[in-house]
Amino acid sequence: MIKIAIVDKMHEDGINLLKNNPKFECEIIEDLSKKNLINKLPNFDGITLRRGKINSEILEKCKKLKVISRHGVGYDNVDIKFLKEKKISLLVTGTTTSVSPAEHIMFMILNISKSFDLFDQSVRNGKFENIMHMKHNSFELLNKKILIVGFGRIGRKLIKRCLGFEMEVYVYDPFVEKKVIESLGGKKINNLDDGLKEIDILSLSVPLTKDTHNMINLEKMKMMKKTSIIINTSRGGVINEKDLNEALNKEIIYGAGLDVFEKEPPNNDNPLLKNKKVLLSPHAATFTRECTSSMAIQTAQNIIDFFENKLDKLMVVKF
Ligand SMILES: NC(=O)c1ccc[n+]([C@@H]2O[C@H](COP(=O)([O-])OP(=O)(O)OC[C@H]3O[C@@H](n4cnc5c(N)ncnc54)[C@H](O)[C@@H]3O)[C@@H](O)[C@H]2O)c1
Repeated sequence: MIKIAIVDKMHEDGINLLKNNPKFECEIIEDLSKKNLINKLPNFDGITLRRGKINSEILEKCKKLKVISRHGVGYDNVDIKFLKEKKISLLVTGTTTSVSPAEHIMFMILNISKSFDLFDQSVRNGKFENIMHMKHNSFELLNKKILIVGFGRIGRKLIKRCLGFEMEVYVYDPFVEKKVIESLGGKKINNLDDGLKEIDILSLSVPLTKDTHNMINLEKMKMMKKTSIIINTSRGGVINEKDLNEALNKEIIYGAGLDVFEKEPPNNDNPLLKNKKVLLSPHAATFTRECTSSMAIQTAQNIIDFFENKLDKLMVVKF
């Protein structure tokens, strides 16, 4: 029997796929503390991992472990160096995790550009007519310039949606060829700073790495237009939160939408929680009916395919 730890509950469609397969024996682990993971995980051949940090201290004890199947595509909560050394495979859920985040980004752009929360509150608070003469900064997306930073699975779903709104799309991704970007209707930007000066909207879809950590800080925001907005659904550390709060308060940029935070959940005293110029969601870009089910199914299927030796190479992280 192959023993699989389901670290952090996922949609039942994925859990059932493993439970109904006679080759596997599964246990759901909901206590994500280091102490519990060190205690529990050494018995397993494979792990599915949603939330929870799997560091080298835990991995050292997992002598039987052959594979970690991430519920998602980001893997900054796993010690990659250790996996590489010990030849433990790391799998991700590929394109099952890209439509919902791309729609989430569009929703945040639309919400902010249409001052939607202000309008909603005005109806509820009996200010239905007052809003007509009130100064607000709603704007059309037609001909607006968006810069997509990171042109992978999510970036490529997002560009289609932006072009549908007749926006001009710039792309900054040093690892994607100009011809690929142009074939999908975008313009390649070779220097991030040049792009920042031009655009109305910045959307971040990069992994959190040494290079992308704090890639957007106050200096970069000062290059942007005062009317511009930033959407970050990638990882919290990609944008400097303290700098973002300052840029919003000093009207260096106009607004922001954040689905991800440097620390999750954010501390109660994080000033962004009280800042009305930022739209927030709780790392929920994949929380649609379709995406939660398909991500869990893919996470489980990756484990099954791994042990049956028929894994799709696109699901494997190359170290
Ligand atoms: N909020 C959520 O729920 C949610 C859901 C899915 C993914 N994510 C995050 O979004 C990120 C992107 O997802 P994806 O599926 O598109 O990943 P992906 O791996 O398909 O694409 C990432 C792209 O970023 C590019 N990139 C890497 N370093 C860069 C740099 N320094 N500058 C510019 N581009 C760089 C890569 O070349 C790649 O094309 C993930 O790594 C994950 O952290 C968040």
